[in-house]
Amino acid sequence: MKLGVCYYPEHWPEELWPDDARRMAELGIHWVRIGEFAWSRIEPEPGRFDWAWLDRAVETLAAAGLKIVMCTPTATPPKWLVDAHPDMLALDANGRQRGFGSRRHYCFSSESYRAECARITEAVAGRYGRHPAVGAWQTDNEFGCHDTTISYSPAAAHAFRGWLAQRYQSVDALNRAWGAVFWSQEYRDFGEVQPPNLTVTEANPSHRLDYNRFASDEVALFNRLQVDIIRRLSPGRDVTHNFMGFYTEFDHFRVGADLDMATWDSYPLGFLEQFWFPEAEKLRYLRQGHPDISAFHHDLYRGVGRGRWWVMEQQPGPVNWARYNPAPLPGAVRAWTWEAFAHGAEVVSYFRWRQAPFAQEQMHAGLNRPDNVLDRGGEEAHAVALELGEMGALAACSRAPVALVFSYEADWQFGIQPHAQGFRWLQLAFEMYSALRRLGLDVDIVSPDADFTGYALVVAPSLPIIEDETVEALAASGAVVLFGPRSGSRTREGHIPAALPPGPLQARLPVRVSRVESLRPGAGPEVDIAGRTFGARLWREVIETGLPARAEFAEGGAAWVSSELWHYLATWPETALLDHVIATVALEAGLSVQPLEEGVRVRRRGDVCFAFNFAPEPRRTPAPADATFVLGGASLPPAGVAAWRISAS
Ligand code: GAL
Repeated sequence: MKLGVCYYPEHWPEELWPDDARRMAELGIHWVRIGEFAWSRIEPEPGRFDWAWLDRAVETLAAAGLKIVMCTPTATPPKWLVDAHPDMLALDANGRQRGFGSRRHYCFSSESYRAECARITEAVAGRYGRHPAVGAWQTDNEFGCHDTTISYSPAAAHAFRGWLAQRYQSVDALNRAWGAVFWSQEYRDFGEVQPPNLTVTEANPSHRLDYNRFASDEVALFNRLQVDIIRRLSPGRDVTHNFMGFYTEFDHFRVGADLDMATWDSYPLGFLEQFWFPEAEKLRYLRQGHPDISAFHHDLYRGVGRGRWWVMEQQPGPVNWARYNPAPLPGAVRAWTWEAFAHGAEVVSYFRWRQAPFAQEQMHAGLNRPDNVLDRGGEEAHAVALELGEMGALAACSRAPVALVFSYEADWQFGIQPHAQGFRWLQLAFEMYSALRRLGLDVDIVSPDADFTGYALVVAPSLPIIEDETVEALAASGAVVLFGPRSGSRTREGHIPAALPPGPLQARLPVRVSRVESLRPGAGPEVDIAGRTFGARLWREVIETGLPARAEFAEGGAAWVSSELWHYLATWPETALLDHVIATVALEAGLSVQPLEEGVRVRRRGDVCFAFNFAPEPRRTPAPADATFVLGGASLPPAGVAAWRISAS
């Protein structure tokens, strides 16, 4: 468990570098990430490389005993390069070219840009690949940030046609898969197909789904190009990419498969402000962050990294990019750091060393203020460094008892045909995760083609497209399985299955969804369980089944059914109903649950159990009376952390 920091030597006078490096080491920093936006300084003119400054920066950091995460600078192609290859720019959904002057101004499908990326990656990896201080690599920076996964450029259109020809082999197969006879959308040739934008009304949903799949594959190819070069020129170093929060436009499991580990960028207060959370929660968790936002991503990226992951960018103070940018509560930066370690992080790296006094992010805090005085985030990082020294090493996270199935494709499918405003797959998944965590359960977030062996409970928030292999793997695991609404509601092509939803799930759950409706806020549906009424929202399915109902809609019909170990929910449960369902399935799976006080969360790693308080009031630490604390104690202040020894699981 080490600390790191993101550093931009090119932003500062060189006289500062030795002092920066010394102070980093003194603070307890071990890793320094550099270079991800430095292309214009590395190659100021086409083919003219200026390595001297970067060599000196690397040597300065190395001399202070710091390890380097070197990056490829491909998120920020310089002006001369864009001018030389205007075809590398993406087009947005309105057909407008995305211009130079910020970052990520490229289209993943541009052949000319890929060639330039290969060239600069070769150059940087060739220069620093075997440097003893360079211990890891980051490709590019935050694929997809600023809405950049999907491009509608001529390059993307061309690549899409090739992708379709590969997938369908014949244009007749494509027409069938897309149901293109509808509204006379049939094609005579792959060459006639365009990206699904600029249509008069909604584009064909199967066309859109394929465009999502295609765009996702393009990100994976783009990343792999760099990874292959780095592996060749920098043997023995870990290669990673820094993924984002609440971002689903490409399949991260697919990109992660080509990496040695995953990393992600954690901005707890920015995410709470920017996403769907109710106003009351935004106020309640204003300065501590939501109890589940960081944890959800920690567990997701542990899955993406096949057990190995870091936080590459940790919020150190106010950010600049949310609607409102409050300062973290004193202690929150420390708590977030420990939370990442509790979920298995190898490294937590802060963004950034010093606040920049110029350009887009001048309002973004760093560990140091712009005048180079250590800020509160820096002090808290130092506190963690000292505590880490006292705690010593912890084992990696062992397999959690519960898996939550995360499907990027499911999110695309619901985004294309939500059928109810606000029916967001990601939110449904998050709410189910929260319910599990409120019961004190550790959760692994896994892909639909994961190995489910060893899980007592598997929760699939919804899998609209279910492969037979997933059904078989779930059955073979012997786990209790809970499926959310709309599972099995589409074929791979995006059609309603011939046997009606839940399609392939019918092998295990003799259920047929004969009708669905979506409901505006306030219109229910209500759900009854043993005389008690619960709230649900947005969605109601009418199911035909011989199975007894575990819960019924007030208007009649089953809302929750189970067949042996398998459960199916026919609506989107509100919190109380969700808590009831999740607690019931967890108990049926033989798990011991420990409902936690509001705002409190726990996580086990090795022989230590951690507890965190996200509530703005103090809480009791949910530890046994005779616990031996290694951090904190029996009372948990707001943004507090406690940890105690348990017998290793
Ligand atoms: C991240 C990005 C960083 C910086 C940071 C600010 O999304 O990777 O370069 O912009 O946000 O919070």
